Amino acid sequence: MKILFLDQSGKPGGAELCLIDIAKPYRDRALVGLFTDGSFRKLLEQNHIPVEVLATQAIQVRKESSLTQGLKSLGQIAPLITKVVNRASKYDLIYANTQKALVVGALASLFSRRPLVYHLHDILSQEHFSQTNLRIAINLANRFASLVIANSQASKTAFVQAGGNPNIIKVIYNGFEPKIYKTSESDIKQLKQKLGIEGQFVVGHFSRLAPWKGQHILITALAECPPQVTALLVGDALFGEQDYVQQLHQQIAEMGLENRVKFLGFRSDIPQLMAACELVAHTSTSPEPFGRVIVEAMLCGRPVVAAKAGGAIELVEHGINGFLVTPGKSQELAQVITTCLQEVETTATMAKNAQAIASQRFDVTTINQQIAQLLSQYASDQPTR
Ligand code: UDP
Ligand code: GLC
Repeated sequence: MKILFLDQSGKPGGAELCLIDIAKPYRDRALVGLFTDGSFRKLLEQNHIPVEVLATQAIQVRKESSLTQGLKSLGQIAPLITKVVNRASKYDLIYANTQKALVVGALASLFSRRPLVYHLHDILSQEHFSQTNLRIAINLANRFASLVIANSQASKTAFVQAGGNPNIIKVIYNGFEPKIYKTSESDIKQLKQKLGIEGQFVVGHFSRLAPWKGQHILITALAECPPQVTALLVGDALFGEQDYVQQLHQQIAEMGLENRVKFLGFRSDIPQLMAACELVAHTSTSPEPFGRVIVEAMLCGRPVVAAKAGGAIELVEHGINGFLVTPGKSQELAQVITTCLQEVETTATMAKNAQAIASQRFDVTTINQQIAQLLSQYASDQPTR
């Protein structure tokens, strides 16, 4: 099956990293069309996945945009739609991986008469999106998509609650290649030395820097933990959240935590960095649609504490394969960190258990088989030629 994948982003967020794994098996007969250029294109190229940047200018609609702003952007995307329709005629299926890709993909599916699949990586609720954007996404998915793949039960539930058709949506979790997450003890030792974190109890946070990812919650918690507890903030402000970055630095200075927090920026050696941490913290203040970092921590054999909402609840069973804390409650987080510091052996056993479960549950080969089975069914259900 020949697939035209569409993604609006030039930057490698979780949805984009997930797309790399999905597109890989189709790379000799697929194209990924991007609406902006950036390092995501390079990552696709490194993975030998054909990619083309289809738009020269980013589409100016944000998650909170109004209808008028949305309509204005229609003129802007007309040339892009023409290009996508043109490309789509050579493929069997259009696979929209983001919301703007859904808008363009829906129209392209109409004009090119190719079936549309929408991979839903978001929780479509007013906490994350404007009413207008929600309505557009739901209506387009209901009207044009043969299949919606939700990245979690939480994303599926929000879709249905917002008026999405329950008969077209299936939940498929992100897949991961377990062997990528194995790091040797000597590499860990070397990295710890390089980062100057030997002998510390390091809590790692691996997310883009954005208010709802809640890095500030970890910093507040840190102040309540014993002094040997330090934090690594791995990730960058991918979508222009510079004010938040400044706020974080200010908060650290005001709390006198400069020696206990390190910012590493965006990194591509996540497995190694996670392995160099004693605990991985996920602190999103709004429900996380899925939460790749939670699974990655498990695959690295590191204990994980996550904010109890959205997809995280489907990934973590408190006390069995990790810890859950109330979103936004830094005191609870500080307590879990302190428990992990004191009960190293119990938490290590839990992390080993989590690693074994996650390696099976999220194995990319199995997940890709599930996707392939669904796609073949929907592509053949709706003959295009
Ligand atoms: N990530 C990365 N480099 C960084 C920070 C994060 O490669 O410096 C990766 C991380 O390992 C994860 C993804 O970015 O695979 C983030 O996905 P997640 O689902 O956790 O959150 P999102 O940003 O998509 O909301
Ligand atoms: C989105 C979500 C994140 C999820 C990722 C992959 O970026 O914010 O929670 O893990 O997609 O599905």
